[in-house]
Amino acid sequence: MDGQGADDLVYDPSDPAVMADPFPVYARLRDEDPVHWSPSVKSWIVTRYDDVRDLLLSDHLSVNRLVRFYTARPPEEAALLRDLIHYLNLWLAFRDPPDHTRLRRIMRHAFTAPAIERMRPNIVEITEMLLDRLETRGAARVDLIREFALQLPAFVIMDLLDVPRDRLDDFKAWSDDMAVFIGGARNATDKYTRAARGCRKMSAYFRDLVAERRRDPRPSFLMDLIEAQDDGDSLTDDELVATCILVLFAGHETTTNLIGNAALLLLRHPDQLASLRADPGRIHGAIEEVLRYDGPTNALVREVAEDHVLHGRHLREGDRVFVMVNSANRDPRQFSEPERFDITRTQNRHLTFGQGIHLCLGAKLAREEGRVAVQALFERFPELALDPEEPPEWLDAMVPRGTRRLPVRLKG
Ligand code: HEM
Repeated sequence: MDGQGADDLVYDPSDPAVMADPFPVYARLRDEDPVHWSPSVKSWIVTRYDDVRDLLLSDHLSVNRLVRFYTARPPEEAALLRDLIHYLNLWLAFRDPPDHTRLRRIMRHAFTAPAIERMRPNIVEITEMLLDRLETRGAARVDLIREFALQLPAFVIMDLLDVPRDRLDDFKAWSDDMAVFIGGARNATDKYTRAARGCRKMSAYFRDLVAERRRDPRPSFLMDLIEAQDDGDSLTDDELVATCILVLFAGHETTTNLIGNAALLLLRHPDQLASLRADPGRIHGAIEEVLRYDGPTNALVREVAEDHVLHGRHLREGDRVFVMVNSANRDPRQFSEPERFDITRTQNRHLTFGQGIHLCLGAKLAREEGRVAVQALFERFPELALDPEEPPEWLDAMVPRGTRRLPVRLKG
């Protein structure tokens, strides 16, 4: 690395003010130091739209950052993490071509438009069930994340993967354990032990499920994955287990944050909420605008695969790069009036689902979940309002963007 930037320009993602509103510092970074070396994060921070898009398309950067991490572990940690790293290494999200190309070619046979459309009745049913529960509980004040936004995508992904809904608590516990490693929680001292335990339980569950479906096939997305073939090539059992875990992670917290951020933005912009109520067809534009204005993808992580220079900075092999998607989505070089939340915006080529070979495979499903959830929520609770006594609590994380708690009043 080689970094000198404006001396008073500090990007500290753990500063609570930055967590609540990172956009002022993004604006400064874009204008003053678009390829910024952050000593606290020990990484490059890239913030302009064109650079973010180009880097996601470039083969100067790699998604495969596990090998370097794993080989640097002391032996006892490496032993603890062996199985976890084994499965994560089979995620196409962490593979570069040609391995990525092979996995993606097979997986696209399962992620088809009709397969995702088949999920729509499940999304509607789950949404109504959760809203019924909220209504019958009769509590005036609730945390919308816990009671709604978190559960909806969890049940959808469980249906998709053929996991019975009564296993929610197990899955939540295993996935929370694994998330302390994958999400890079700063303060979890026992994070490797927990992550190894979560991975052991989750992989054992999916291994048994895949074996059972091979014995007793039933039409489902999981079956589509098991049967997916490209040129006679299909996923091995290990790859199937890894892919189930990936789908659970990729499709869960992201969609929770889409629903939570959408509710928060609409409540903070009553004119836009009124415009949506006046014309429910605007829900498509509303979800796209949420994805742009404050979407769940704050940043994507890459490692420099080949030395190169960008805006005069020397990015060296092995350096870590945070590609700041949410900053790119507010770049005035790309969007007119980017600081305006406008659900009728027409030019909206946001980068929230990524770009290039790793473009999100679940975007269609996520959009559908977002539209159904947000529309039904505001219809069911016309007086929904932010809790005036408890402000939202933002996640302390650099990659996902969303609230950990979103206290609301369901009735006036
Ligand atoms: C609002 C919700 C979602 C957002 C914002 C989102 C965002 C993204 C982004 C930015 C990437 C690219 C990551 C990178 O380049 O490093 C990605 C990849 C991926 N997403 Fe999503 N995602 C969402 C929901 C989902 C859902 C619901 C699923 C599955 C059911 C899913 C499955 C995947 C998979 C499998 C990949 C890996 C693709 C690859 O590496 O080729 N995502 N997602």
